[in-house]
Amino acid sequence: MKNLLISILAFFILALLALGIGLNHSLAYVLIVIVPYAAFAILLTGFVYRIIKWGSAPVPFRIPSTCGQGKSLPWIKTNPVENPSGAWGVIGRMAQEIFLFRSLFRNTDVAIVDERPVYGSAKWLWFCGLLFHWSFAIIVLRHLRFFVEPIAPWIGALSALDGFFEIGIPTLYLSDAAILVGLTFLFLRRVVVPQVRYISLFTDYFSLLLIAGVVTTGLLTRHFFPADLNAAKTLAMGWVTFSPVVPQGISLVFYMHLCFVFVLLVWFPASKLMHAGGIFLSPTRNLASNNRGKRHVNPWNAPVKVHTYEEYEDEFRDKMKASGLPVEKE
Ligand code: HEM
Repeated sequence: MKNLLISILAFFILALLALGIGLNHSLAYVLIVIVPYAAFAILLTGFVYRIIKWGSAPVPFRIPSTCGQGKSLPWIKTNPVENPSGAWGVIGRMAQEIFLFRSLFRNTDVAIVDERPVYGSAKWLWFCGLLFHWSFAIIVLRHLRFFVEPIAPWIGALSALDGFFEIGIPTLYLSDAAILVGLTFLFLRRVVVPQVRYISLFTDYFSLLLIAGVVTTGLLTRHFFPADLNAAKTLAMGWVTFSPVVPQGISLVFYMHLCFVFVLLVWFPASKLMHAGGIFLSPTRNLASNNRGKRHVNPWNAPVKVHTYEEYEDEFRDKMKASGLPVEKE
């Protein structure tokens, strides 16, 4: 409970700071010209630092999680996805993990029925997790329209598809509704389920609240306090062409949107959000399960002085023969 309260407090302080920055026009220059580059540099260096650190951690043994028959004798049916023995199997399994959250699909729940534990399938976490991540990705991809000129046709097509049902003016994007559902589920799950609340840390709540801050201010900007989209485009093009300008007509809510985004960029490499990069380095996922076919020797094994059987026999042959023990070499 303490972690939840502290993260809510931190979020409100952040929201107030964002509001203050939005209201104070003299800070606009700092927010638009300096902070974006600083935040992006922190994101990039932090991301690369953590990936290099994880990537250089020794993985002497093959420890893939296996949920199916590994490659064995030719007449035994193997399961190349659940227990991949080669690179293609690993790539296939990784792709399913990354795009479909395959292992989360196996999530189970336990309930006590007649004083006995009963396990059942629990798909809501998988579904809402998928909803959240996919809609986040779609929203970020749609935002590319601000950052490229001319706007690539696929960005327009993605936006058109996302607003397919043409609900309201401006159109409500499906990804916006989906991310709200996903975020609400993920947050409430941590608050409502006692076991999950018990293991939830500040970073768990704060990451969700921060993303919720970005999304709600984005939605408010689109539907209730419209931003000058030309100004947004000028702003974004200024950043990518390294000639940032502070355009007129930026609304308060849009300033808050930007503030939350920049904090998210800085928070990303320092937090659990790094699982976006870490998943690729997970040895339980990215290693082929080929222990039966290939001998893996720990590269930093200390040199051990061995005494082979041949040497042993050479040393004791006379004594072995004298006591009637069989020998390999006469
Ligand atoms: C992590 C990054 C970001 C996320 C998750 C995000 C999220 C959102 C969401 C959910 C909306 C609601 C409407 C929509 O989905 O398009 C929105 C709107 C908006 N965002 Fe962002 N945003 C991000 C970064 C940015 C940046 C860097 C800019 C700077 C140009 C920006 C500018 C805008 C504008 C101008 C709108 C209003 C769009 C409209 O009225 O159609 N956003 N954002």
